[in-house]
Amino acid sequence: MALVVEREAAEAPRLALEASWYTDPGIFERERTAVFARTWQYACHGSALRRAGDFVAFTIGKVPLLAVRDRQGAVRCFHNVCRHRAHALAEGCGNRAFIVCPYHGWRYDLDGRLRSAPGEDRVPGFDRSAIALGEVRTEIFCGFVFVNLDPQAAPMAQWYPGVEEELRAFVPGIDALAPVDEVVVPEACNWKVSVENYSECYHCKLTHPTFSSGVIDPDSYDIRPQGHCLRHTTRSAQSEAMTYAIDVQNAHAADYSSWYLWPTFSFQVYPGNVLNTYLWRAEDHRSVTVTRGWYTPGGAPSEAIDRLAAQDRATTVAEDIKIVESVQRGLDSGVYEPGLLVIDPDGGVMSEHSIAAIHGWLREALA
Ligand code: FES
Ligand SMILES: [Fe+2]
Repeated sequence: MALVVEREAAEAPRLALEASWYTDPGIFERERTAVFARTWQYACHGSALRRAGDFVAFTIGKVPLLAVRDRQGAVRCFHNVCRHRAHALAEGCGNRAFIVCPYHGWRYDLDGRLRSAPGEDRVPGFDRSAIALGEVRTEIFCGFVFVNLDPQAAPMAQWYPGVEEELRAFVPGIDALAPVDEVVVPEACNWKVSVENYSECYHCKLTHPTFSSGVIDPDSYDIRPQGHCLRHTTRSAQSEAMTYAIDVQNAHAADYSSWYLWPTFSFQVYPGNVLNTYLWRAEDHRSVTVTRGWYTPGGAPSEAIDRLAAQDRATTVAEDIKIVESVQRGLDSGVYEPGLLVIDPDGGVMSEHSIAAIHGWLREALA
């Protein structure tokens, strides 16, 4: 994939997308079914589903979903839509022995099968055994629960080759981690403006001084497609400029890396094997909610992580909000004509070949 991008860059200049890709509600409607409903989407962290009956409700595109730990110990995900007359079965998160619809009381087991319906014995031919909640593809990826509404979808290992192995090498004990902090950031822009901004570091030196001098080394920064993942790599910042102390001694202890999983999730590892994540939930064509997740073993409180999350919120995240909202205003202005992408055939921090890769995946999905 990297070679293809490089060859195309050498042959023809690549342009940014037309403004309508970011401003047209009709395109967003198509993305709901062609992108969000056909790709791997984050559901919740596995630690929210430790015991049988634990559940988490969430929505992908327009589809309300319910992730549940069943009695056999498997994590499954169902349509959060009652098979009777479509009421939602649960909201938020919690634990239930059965999934009972609050509208008329149809009761489903944790494997989705209907166990009872009030008055069913008075209905000739009512075959309870033929009724079950719709179920969707679910995978646990390094302790994170992902779903795909497309029953034919290839497994995550095929979409994102090598990522699980690399993450495990960067974060020993990743399965024992649990969320310790969550920073929710509403952004007034199309989800792709935020994702594209995340996916290039051409803007880092100018707009992220703390990140550029205190977390990474911008001169060694590179982003390469790896299946439908964009892999960010860099040496970490000079140790004297680090904004926090690294106290672990193991492989990758001093490394920064990130794995953006097209289209709406990214794993990042900061020096010190510190795992953190980005999740983009598109609300409509011009608003997205970005959630920054931070993790420690078992979710144990950590002052160091609290400080790092606060620093990240106050610097990189705050800096990016201003950028993406300004870009959206420009796209909304009616005067924007697509500009040239700056693509260096050799990649590197000054190249936007990663943006071209995202546009390729988008076109492939909507084709
Ligand atoms: S809609 Fe769920 S029981 Fe009627
Ligand atoms: Fe940025």
